Amino acid sequence: MTSVLVVIPTYNEALTIAKAVDRTRTSVPGAHILVVDDGSPDGTGAIVDDLAELDDHVHVLHRGGKQGLGAAYLAGFAWGLSRDYDVLVEMDADGSHQPEELPLLLHALERADLVIGSRYVPGGRVVNWPYKRQALSRIGNTYTRIALGTALRDTTGGYRAYRASALRALDMQAVASQGYCFQVDMAWRTIRAGLRVMEVPITFVEREQGESKMDGRIVREALWRVTQWGAAHRGRQLRGLLGGSPR
Ligand code: GDD
Ligand code: MN
Repeated sequence: MTSVLVVIPTYNEALTIAKAVDRTRTSVPGAHILVVDDGSPDGTGAIVDDLAELDDHVHVLHRGGKQGLGAAYLAGFAWGLSRDYDVLVEMDADGSHQPEELPLLLHALERADLVIGSRYVPGGRVVNWPYKRQALSRIGNTYTRIALGTALRDTTGGYRAYRASALRALDMQAVASQGYCFQVDMAWRTIRAGLRVMEVPITFVEREQGESKMDGRIVREALWRVTQWGAAHRGRQLRGLLGGSPR
C-alpha cells in the first residue's frame, strides 16, 4: 500500500478550497490532503480547519503570512516526509489541476520519480486561459528548455507527483526560489540528480473563482534564476569540453 499526501498551498482561496478538497477526496479516497495556508485574510484557513475537524484525511498547516509558493511547498513536503508518506503531490486549490486526473499521475509514478502533469505534450490542453497568460507560459517554458537544455515541455507546471525517495535525494535546504520558479527549480534538481522525470498530458482549466497570485515579481524572479541556472550549466558543459573537471 502506498500512502499519498496531496499538498495544496493556499492564499485567499476561500471560494475554491472546499471544492478542491472534496473533489480530491472523491477522486483518490485513500489520499490524505495537507492545505498549507499563509494566513489568508479571507478566512481560507478557518474553512480548512472545519473540514479537518470532520475528516481525518484532511490536515492544515497554518503559516504566519504570505511567503510564496516555494516556501509553502517546502513546509508541506517537510510535514509529509516526517510522517513517512510514500508519494507527495502538488496541486493548486483553484480547480486548474483537476483532481479527477490525479490517478493518471499516480499511475505514471510507478515508472518515474517525478511525474509532471503537462499542458504542452500531445493530449495536454489549456482551457479558458487568457491569451496573455498562455503566451507568458509558452515563452517561459521555451526559454527554460533552451537555457537548461532539457526536453521537458512544461517545466513550470504545478500539478505533480513526487516519490518521497526522490525528494529525500534532493538538497531541498538549498532551494531559495520563492515564487512559481520553485517548479522549475525542483524539476531541474530532479533531472540533475539523475532521477526519472516523466510528463503526462493534463487539461489545465482556468479558475472560475478567486484570483491568480501571479505578479511581476514572480516573473522577474523566474527569469533571473533560470538565466543563472542556465549560465552555470553552460559553464559546466564548457569546462567539460575544455577538459577541465566538471563541477
Ligand atoms: N501558501 C501559499 N503562499 N499559497 C500560494 C502563494 C503563497 O504565497 N501564492 C500562490 N499560492 C497558491 C494559490 O492559492 C493557489 O492554490 C496556487 O498557489 C496557484 O496559484 P495561482 O495564483 O492560482 O497560480 P496561477 O494559476 O497564476 O499559475 C499556475 O501556473 C503557473 C505557471 O505555469 C499554477 O499552476 C502554478 O503552479 C504554475 O507555476
Ligand atoms: Mn490558478
